[in-house]
Amino acid sequence: MRLNQCQNFHDFRRMARQRLPGPIFNYIDGAADDETTYRRNTQAFEACDLVPDVLRGVAQVDMSVSVMGQKLALPVYCSPTALQRLFHHDGERAVAAAAGKFGTMFGVSSLGTVSLEEARKISGGPQVYQFYFHKDRGLNRDMMARAKKAGVQVMMLTVDSITGGNRERDKRTGFAIPFRLNLAGIAQFAIKPAWAVNYVTHERFRLPQLDGHVDMGGGAMSISRYFTDMLDPAMSWDDVAAMVKEWGGQFCLKGIMSVEDARRAVDIGCTGIVLSNHGGRQLDGSRSAFDQLAEIVDAVGDRIDVMMDGGVQRGTHVLKALALGAKAVGLGRYYLFPLAAAGQPGVERALDLMRIEIERAMKLMGCRSVSDLQRRHLRFR
Ligand SMILES: Cc1cc2nc3c(=O)[nH]c(=O)nc-3n(C[C@H](O)[C@H](O)[C@H](O)COP(=O)(O)O)c2cc1C
Repeated sequence: MRLNQCQNFHDFRRMARQRLPGPIFNYIDGAADDETTYRRNTQAFEACDLVPDVLRGVAQVDMSVSVMGQKLALPVYCSPTALQRLFHHDGERAVAAAAGKFGTMFGVSSLGTVSLEEARKISGGPQVYQFYFHKDRGLNRDMMARAKKAGVQVMMLTVDSITGGNRERDKRTGFAIPFRLNLAGIAQFAIKPAWAVNYVTHERFRLPQLDGHVDMGGGAMSISRYFTDMLDPAMSWDDVAAMVKEWGGQFCLKGIMSVEDARRAVDIGCTGIVLSNHGGRQLDGSRSAFDQLAEIVDAVGDRIDVMMDGGVQRGTHVLKALALGAKAVGLGRYYLFPLAAAGQPGVERALDLMRIEIERAMKLMGCRSVSDLQRRHLRFR
């Protein structure tokens, strides 16, 4: 399959699967336990029908939104994801550049493979820095200071990963960082020599956000030990309140699911929340963010920017979330498979297809701007 033949998520996924060694494809594609939540995330959109208006004069549509103080040309952004240079040698550079071209926001993960400073220079668009809460409070403070100095606009603390999810596909293949592949896993790499040549002929794989803390050579700390040894499962609302104060700018929590927690986020001064179950990769059986959206928008939507992610594969999925009151919608695997398939041109093609789908669907819904999308445009089965 070639890039210009890719028309949708499924095509990109197929192309990524062809290109990537099995353990890496399954790291992206996989989720926790029985992957029920992963499947449910997309199914949730399918249980909701659109009810269009017609004859509304939709020659021009405005897809822009304002979220967390940022103006985005599209109502979607690239959610932060780990290890992108493992999927394609350009990794975060490709995603930062593509997001910038489309006038939208992108996230750099604490487990990113390009420094947040370099990503900042590449993209003209707004940047999120996603981080986890470490036992070492000094490290937390240093990270925030570093992000501030680099000009990052939005801090995003992920709160659903206090411990690693049970990713059984990774256990089967032996996927870990540093690599600790089993024989079947090694064989999978051997049959994708193009990926392997690319990997070894580009700069050394690093986690620049955690330089000095996580050793990619395999000595000091693997990623799974990063989660178990360095992150603080005792993190509390008081800890986060102190961070929000220290940052003093746009601060959101990613992985909020309950109304109670959404209210607390408002109380401690957060400016945004992302309803998310981490793409089904953490707590299997967790509700989909889309199903939980209306309740949370009703409770706090007038006081905080509510975003959501999980399972978004189509422009119509985005429209449904916006109609329920989301301010913007995060994309994960939707841009990761194109990244793996074709680097920056892949991400650009995926964002362009999404832009075209959103524009077409808005016209077909009789909506000239995102604010025209209302709950009356939706019926749940
Ligand atoms: C391969 C992969 C790596 C991810 N890494 C991170 C991460 O480092 N930090 C984080 O907050 N979320 C991470 N996520 C979750 C995404 O930000 C997002 O919440 C999720 O992918 C949305 O679901 P979707 O993939 O169905 O769109 C990751 C997701 C994937 C698929």
